[in-house]
Amino acid sequence: MTTIGVVRETAAGERRVALVPEDVGRLRRDGLQVVVEAGAGSGAWYADTDYADAGATVTSRVQVYADSDVLLCVTPPEDADALHAGQVLVGLLAPRRDPVRFRQLAATGVTAISLDLLPRTLSRAQAMDALTSQANVAGYKAALVAADAYGAYLPMLMTAAGTARPARVLVLGAGVAGLQALATARRLGAAVTGYDVREAAREDIASTGAAVLTLDVPAATGEGGYARRLSEDEARAQQEALDTAVAGFDIVITTAQVPDGRPPLLVTAAALEAMRPGSVVVDAASGPLGGNVAGSEPGRTVVSARGVTVVGAADLPARVPKAASTAYSRNLCALLAGLIRDGAVAVDPDDEIHAAVVVARDGEVVHPAVRAATSEEVPS
Ligand code: NAI
Repeated sequence: MTTIGVVRETAAGERRVALVPEDVGRLRRDGLQVVVEAGAGSGAWYADTDYADAGATVTSRVQVYADSDVLLCVTPPEDADALHAGQVLVGLLAPRRDPVRFRQLAATGVTAISLDLLPRTLSRAQAMDALTSQANVAGYKAALVAADAYGAYLPMLMTAAGTARPARVLVLGAGVAGLQALATARRLGAAVTGYDVREAAREDIASTGAAVLTLDVPAATGEGGYARRLSEDEARAQQEALDTAVAGFDIVITTAQVPDGRPPLLVTAAALEAMRPGSVVVDAASGPLGGNVAGSEPGRTVVSARGVTVVGAADLPARVPKAASTAYSRNLCALLAGLIRDGAVAVDPDDEIHAAVVVARDGEVVHPAVRAATSEEVPS
């Protein structure tokens, strides 16, 4: 019988867990065994007893590694080298972020499956789309973080002590996270405006009830529904146009990403300088490769001499661990449903989803794009 293992996350500040107790029962009903490391769910307020009551065996980390056929994680475990040939590791493995480690993992003979490579527009894959589920959480939390850091109301409030005007919120980048940030800020009563470089996103912005900011910059839709990176001239024109636009807002939330990893700079130092004291900028694209806001650093909040707060909000899904884990766990269950046939893991290279998400197999990195990125070879 196939055994699914769940370990405690090892990344700093990570509070999510890959499988929630509710889904243990789901896997058990599908004839799978579940082993969970003691304390794995504690960051998201799931007790060991919740897992045990749902039918999982709660045990030590060493035992989970020993017993698992498939090990579920959110981000790659620090001790992934303890896995052995034939085991399957499933998570948001970001294989291009640490190519050397990833090559080592592949060499052990572990089958590595990374949900961040799932084809986004394939309707069959939607239930497995962990990037979307986590981006939804990130966008929601970004709006709350901004509201919390802002020293006035978001809604218009009429009281005996006077009338407060609604906060003006601008969201830059209207993919999954940006649209959720727009919707959340709007629910909080702010006057919201969205901007994106993809043409299709403009309709999405309008559908949340937000105003659409248009700049004199060409639309830049790339492959797979993602934005393409702007040329240097286009990026400069965009930054100049945004420098002027940003100054009119109380709160700016940025979520813009392009597929090669380095987020575009949208809010320059000059734009921050032009914002009113008390304004707040939340950089939800902030990460190890940079962010959308000049000077933002992941995990740091900086208040400028002029009183503009810049939040480098890198860990947003981990800060809503229950909702993020619940959605992620459901994504993994959907993936497992298509991966396990007659009680055993059956990778089918002809299946469009498997071909996209299986990154390492039989001792090698098999995904072409990851192979190119993780080797010295120049892609042909
Ligand atoms: P993402 O996280 O890669 O980027 C966020 C947003 O930033 C995108 O909307 C992108 O256009 C925008 N952006 C990039 N460079 C920019 C710039 N210089 N200025 C302004 N905005 C910029 O995007 P996400 O949320 O991962 O979505 C990627 C694509 O996948 C989108 O087209 C989305 O609609 C699509 N998608 C489709 C799904 C489906 O069909 N079921 C599910 C999820 C996503």
